Amino acid sequence: MFWDTLSKPFFVMAPMADVTDIAFRALVAKRGAPDVFWTEFVSADGLYHTREIQKMRDAENPLMRELAFEENQRPIVAQIFSSSPEMIAYATKLVAKLGFDGVDINMGCPDRAIERQGCGAAMIKNPKLAQEIIRVAQGVSDLPVSVKTRVGYNKESLDEWLTVLLEANPAAITLHLRTRKEMSRVPADWELMKKAVSIRNKVNPRVLLIGNGDVQDLEDGRAKVAEAGCDGAMFGRAMFGNPWVFAGKKSEDTSLAEKLAALTELAYGFEKLSPPKNFAILKKHIKAFVTSFDGAAHLRAKLMEAENAAELEAILALYCRNGTPEFI
Ligand SMILES: Cc1cc2nc3c(=O)[nH]c(=O)nc-3n(C[C@H](O)[C@H](O)[C@H](O)COP(=O)(O)O)c2cc1C
Repeated sequence: MFWDTLSKPFFVMAPMADVTDIAFRALVAKRGAPDVFWTEFVSADGLYHTREIQKMRDAENPLMRELAFEENQRPIVAQIFSSSPEMIAYATKLVAKLGFDGVDINMGCPDRAIERQGCGAAMIKNPKLAQEIIRVAQGVSDLPVSVKTRVGYNKESLDEWLTVLLEANPAAITLHLRTRKEMSRVPADWELMKKAVSIRNKVNPRVLLIGNGDVQDLEDGRAKVAEAGCDGAMFGRAMFGNPWVFAGKKSEDTSLAEKLAALTELAYGFEKLSPPKNFAILKKHIKAFVTSFDGAAHLRAKLMEAENAAELEAILALYCRNGTPEFI
């Protein structure tokens, strides 16, 4: 399995809904690939029911577009979520059939709509089911199964929760170093990673541990991993506006022209490759790429009005020709 072939420390792409889709991954792959790519999370129940209700074959299921990837986006792990072992079994088999390199189960998402279904972070409160779900996924294909979760629900509970996960023997566990209750409001607590590593070493040393939360860039990732003693780090928001991050670049290392070109490429990629979604989804990328220079706010506001890639490109072309944000 691919996890065994990674040299340590390794640095991986975080799964991010409405961010790490095929077009964004293409942007990153071209500029410096992570050691592992991740999809956005996909509802296992959604995959199943869309197919059942519409009596369609897997290949006709519109949700399948969320599981599209290109060959230079490997190794790639598909992240799924469900509180139903049957749905996890169905989605894992599907993901295996599609040629993914691994399957990851989300046990950390704090979104109320997800938690109401007993999924995401709610799984932390249901350790028996969490173990069952991991084991079911392991049983239905040869794909390595990993888990992404948090350090606890209302309070840090690594002794209990991490032990439960380790006992199910996943290939890797990513720990977002905050509790569910903390959401993203406090800094990630990398000190806890040391505790996690010592639990892992005692309970199941074969499981890889990946730290997540507030990693700024490769240098910061290396330092955090070295200090904590884990195997790798996962980068989320550090990728915003910086698809060069896995190549070791910091945001200030790239010119504005390169950033605007990357944004344009992303917009066209989004139209061509991504599942059909509102162009407004690109707003968070516009905010991230168009920042920290004189007139950025003005240009950003203009770009936010773009309804497609051609309009975005036209606004940027006007900006670049005039070289000044006062053009409008
Ligand atoms: C816009 C957005 C979407 C996210 N979507 C997912 C997701 O689909 N699955 C998941 O496990 N975590 C998701 N997360 C959490 C990130 O993967 C990561 O754990 C979190 O951002 C902390 O890492 P960072 O500080 O490096 O960003 C998302 C976070 C953000 C900001």
